[in-house]
Amino acid sequence: LKAEELRALIATSRQAVAFTGAGLSTASGIPDFRSPGGLWSRNRPIAFDAFVGSAEMRREAWRRKFVMDDATRGAEPNAAHRAIARLVADGVIALVVTQNIDDLHRRSGIPEDRLVELHGNGTYATCLSCGLRHELDDIRRTFEATGDPPPCRTCGGLLKSATVSFGQAMPQAAMRAAERAAAEADLFLAFGSSLVVYPAAGLPLVAKRAGATLAIANREPTDLDPWADLVLRCDLVDLLQPFDPEVSTA
Ligand code: OAD
Ligand code: ZN
Repeated sequence: LKAEELRALIATSRQAVAFTGAGLSTASGIPDFRSPGGLWSRNRPIAFDAFVGSAEMRREAWRRKFVMDDATRGAEPNAAHRAIARLVADGVIALVVTQNIDDLHRRSGIPEDRLVELHGNGTYATCLSCGLRHELDDIRRTFEATGDPPPCRTCGGLLKSATVSFGQAMPQAAMRAAERAAAEADLFLAFGSSLVVYPAAGLPLVAKRAGATLAIANREPTDLDPWADLVLRCDLVDLLQPFDPEVSTA
């Protein structure tokens, strides 16, 4: 059983890092990016330069954002999120590093200091000039009334979902914390990511090079499978359900 293989790895680990991707949230009804029917099969990503350079692109980005938010409004953490939160609470997983922007790890109860969001958070927006936080509801009201998002209320700058687009700088503190944790981990668990987007996808290799055991769990093969000590090709809910406190006492 795959869960038993994972349990055996965890049993000998003192400092595990979980690294998660969109595959963790598909069971919550949030589409991933690169599966058939995934987001990038429907829309080409809007790169950061295009967003900054064109009002038309900003309108398109905000339109997509609100469509996606409506489609995923009821999404809740699933058994895989709950299992990971449990392993954090038990001290088995020292840090969760996620590429996901859906806030589901936080909502599953992982404390702030155990969670690194490498690609930001899609539940609010920030001003690209001054960094001020803006709420999506306020932006949406203006967008629906005028066809454009509002400017920053204090500096007039451009508002963008607080997520990282292609070509946009990574949040530096988050990236540094993730790199440090990867280098110090004895076990690095990659869950539900195709592992093709860098620099995030470099983290499994940082861990591996520093001596960690690398385990990759994903439905499809990933680019880094050749470097893994253990490849679990499976559904993440199936794999992690035995660790979910809501369905077991494991
Ligand atoms: P991808 O869509 O590239 O990969 C998700 C992986 O999860 C795929 O390989 C699926 O086969 C697998 N998967 C989906 N559902 C699963 C399930 N229930 N059980 C097991 N595996 C499952 O998503 P990411 O790797 O997260 O970045 O993508 C990385 C980054 O690319 C994202 O953070 C986003 C995107 O562009 C930005 O937007 C900056
Ligand atoms: Zn501003």
